[in-house]
Amino acid sequence: MMLKRILRLAAYPIFFTLLISCNSNPESTNKRSTKFQQYYVQGQTLYQKHCSNCHQSNGKGLGRLYPPVDYSDFMDNNFKEVLCAIKYGISGQLIVNDVDYNMTMKGIPVLTELEVAEIATYIYNTWTHQQGLIDVKDVSQILSSCDN
Ligand code: HEC
Repeated sequence: MMLKRILRLAAYPIFFTLLISCNSNPESTNKRSTKFQQYYVQGQTLYQKHCSNCHQSNGKGLGRLYPPVDYSDFMDNNFKEVLCAIKYGISGQLIVNDVDYNMTMKGIPVLTELEVAEIATYIYNTWTHQQGLIDVKDVSQILSSCDN
């Protein structure tokens, strides 16, 4: 009986620690934040306009022609390359989920850094991806290091 009570008491600090650690998430990366919602909604519109022709609205791509973005190990492992590809393009051999693509994707150089961040926030938080907000500050830094 006593042991049960001690265990119950011990649960409170654990509960509060969890609560505090959740709240200490930076506001901007919180998926319910206004900033996240704005990025996400804009990103969705931009994706429909610039990307869905090839990668499809459901992100599944098109056979051997266009690789998927819904579940993509390439996206998980090559974050920088993906951001650079959106603005500057990518070509040559590229393996996505064990399938070999050797095509060319043109970049969209007119996209602003904010628009790239919005698109990235959309594709990295839709389908199987759950990366949280991708801030324009980080995108700006990454884009300045693309070797294009
Ligand atoms: C005209 C067709 C086309 C359009 C439009 C296009 N892509 Fe691509 N995309 C491709 C092709 C083809 C590849 C593979 C390139 C290669 O083989 O080197 C690719 C590769 C990728 C990859 C890396 C591989 C993967 O699937 O994980 C990502 C991520 C990606 N594109 C995202 C986008 C985003 C975001 C947009 C819109 C801003 C976009 N693409 C617009 C054709 C397109």
